[in-house]
Amino acid sequence: MARFPFASALVTGASSGIGAEMAKQLGDAGVPTVLVARRVERLQEIAHRYDGFTMIEADLGTESGLAAVMGAVSDSEIAIDLVVNNAGFGTSGQFVDLDPGRLGEEIDLNVKALTKISNAALGAMRERGSGYLLNVSSVASFQPAPGLAVYAATKAYVTSLTEALHEEMRATGVHVSALCPGLTKTEFQERSNTSEYEATFPDFAWTSVESVASAGLAGVAKNRAIIVPGALYKGLVATSGVVPRSVARRLSAMASTIRT
Ligand SMILES: NC(=O)c1ccc[n+]([C@@H]2O[C@H](COP(=O)([O-])OP(=O)(O)OC[C@H]3O[C@@H](n4cnc5c(N)ncnc54)[C@H](OP(=O)(O)O)[C@@H]3O)[C@@H](O)[C@H]2O)c1
Repeated sequence: MARFPFASALVTGASSGIGAEMAKQLGDAGVPTVLVARRVERLQEIAHRYDGFTMIEADLGTESGLAAVMGAVSDSEIAIDLVVNNAGFGTSGQFVDLDPGRLGEEIDLNVKALTKISNAALGAMRERGSGYLLNVSSVASFQPAPGLAVYAATKAYVTSLTEALHEEMRATGVHVSALCPGLTKTEFQERSNTSEYEATFPDFAWTSVESVASAGLAGVAKNRAIIVPGALYKGLVATSGVVPRSVARRLSAMASTIRT
């Protein structure tokens, strides 16, 4: 039996980290996949290993890059079965000290691009009466995160949007899931200026990129609304639902003094 039910896939942010690992797992399972990112040479390294892999070199922070990907996911002839909105990055530090231009880029990628690609993909999938949409969010989406305020807010948007879309698409045959990883060693830490986390947080706090990618792909195949990889983070998310919001907020602020 095939490992995944997907006939084809498109993964944004496939040049490193979780997206690159998902692309490899899809390739190993024989799923032809479209790889999207800005660093095309990284995409080529992966694409050359697998039959049926293609690439779109796109900056999803630009209208032209976004239009190229929206065109691909809504094209009825290509009929992409699984769309993974994975590209994203975070800003860290005191909100008032952060560059507003960088904050705008973060919102454009994590929120605007993800929303428009979801809209284009789901329109085509509803038409076909089948398909899979996997939006990569974060455990940071479940409570405010001082020190990562805008990043956590963008991911709260992603989780909220995705849960709503999961319900809207319930009767259509289309699966919609949010993948909410905890700490995972990728290029994310360097890009979000959180490289010190690697020394601050113990080994057990880190989830492997392989297990995050496989949990996401398996979870959307099963139409899980929310996918939280790893027992530690499953437990933390479960308790965040029962802890009063004021307490969760304070705990998160205390954790940020460890983090920063
Ligand atoms: N690592 C963690 O601890 C963690 C935890 C929770 C959630 N997440 C989420 O997981 C997702 C993947 O992150 P990661 O950890 O794998 O980080 P990563 O290694 O930095 O990968 C990010 C990917 O996004 C792409 N990307 C960034 N800006 C882009 C743009 N403007 N246009 C197109 N592609 C762009 C990058 O490709 P190019 O630079 O080549 O364009 C890269 O492939 C993100 O949404 C992140 O928020 C990560």
